[in-house]
Amino acid sequence: MNYQSYKQSLQGQTLPLAYVNLDYLELNANAILQRAGGMPVRVVSKSLRSVDIIKKLLGHSSLFQGVMCFHPDEAVFLAEQGLDDLLVAYPSMQAEAITAVCEATRSGKRIVLMVDSAAHVELIASIAEKVGVMQPVCMEIDMSTRFPGVHFGVRRSPISTPAQAVELYRTIAKKGAVKLEGVMGYEGQIAGVGDQVPGKELQNRAIPWLKRISIPLLTRRRGAVVEALQDAGAKLRFVNGGGTGSIDSTREDPSVTELAVGSGFFSPHLFDYYSDFQYLPAAGFALEVSRLPGSGYATCSGGGYIASGGVGVEKSPKPYLPEGFVLDENEGAGEVQTPLKRSSDKKYKNVTNALSHGDPVLFRHCKAGELCERFNELVLIKNGEVVDKCLTYRGQGKSFI
Ligand SMILES: Cc1ncc(COP(=O)(O)O)c(C=O)c1O
Repeated sequence: MNYQSYKQSLQGQTLPLAYVNLDYLELNANAILQRAGGMPVRVVSKSLRSVDIIKKLLGHSSLFQGVMCFHPDEAVFLAEQGLDDLLVAYPSMQAEAITAVCEATRSGKRIVLMVDSAAHVELIASIAEKVGVMQPVCMEIDMSTRFPGVHFGVRRSPISTPAQAVELYRTIAKKGAVKLEGVMGYEGQIAGVGDQVPGKELQNRAIPWLKRISIPLLTRRRGAVVEALQDAGAKLRFVNGGGTGSIDSTREDPSVTELAVGSGFFSPHLFDYYSDFQYLPAAGFALEVSRLPGSGYATCSGGGYIASGGVGVEKSPKPYLPEGFVLDENEGAGEVQTPLKRSSDKKYKNVTNALSHGDPVLFRHCKAGELCERFNELVLIKNGEVVDKCLTYRGQGKSFI
């Protein structure tokens, strides 16, 4: 969809707004299913943060099964919204939130809490016992790889060997009120790190090599942990792995029973820089041009929606349409206004888009779900027209983290 089509479809809408292009969302969902090659995909809520969008995806294919949540309170909220099969992928020490999950479990909902240490198990078990329920848990294993001088991966679980996993399993098995139902191993360094990032030539050369070496090590580690747990008596219902950027390798791991995917659905600009896939920009936001401070410049109202993680200019939103505009490096995407200037890139030499007062400018967020923390609703576009709106978590008054 080009700028003129978006501009026409957004006429009369109040700006700023966040939008989802439903045609692109569907195409991305189909491309993800194709890459998953028949393996079930758990939908990652943190990268969507709208109940309606999560439901749309779950309804799109029977291979989208269950939700990967980021907070116990969120899982309870999603259960109240009619969703089930909820895996909370991050441990919590919040007694009140765990109590709410245990109560939901008692009422028949399927919610699994994450553990990676005895402290998590002790807390969940003591609460589950009080509530009078058998609370399912999932064990997260560390999927980072270490090379001399390089920690390649994310800092999550301390469990990286079969022996450590079996020790924690024994702690779980001793408790009457918790049972181990799953294992999760998220290889963030494969799933979330691109290899064609502009301005990072050295890193782009090293990353494919590090990934190639890591994948067989990780497959062996995940497989060995799963086997050891099963030998120790664990009856696992699922083994979850991967993310948007690792579908191809994770689905080849024989110990994995389901993938986790979120960002690929909206495809924020962080996911433009992978050599082996390209999804369509299905979500973004539109700001209005509110002032014209000088030749070649247009200043938009709003826009400072910087993404989390290691700090760098790449965490800024990107002007998307009309083509040929970039952020002003002195001001970036600002707290209440965002100046744009004409790009000096030769490829835009003949682009003569002029922006006028009130025109919309479309931007893409760096990350997927964080966009929804800035807007109450998403404007839904299909076949070049606004067809509906839906609420984000924020629009439902929810902010979990
Ligand atoms: C446990 C886990 N699985 C999967 C993912 C991948 O999500 P996405 O597809 O949005 O990159 C994440 C993201 O951080 C995660 O924490």
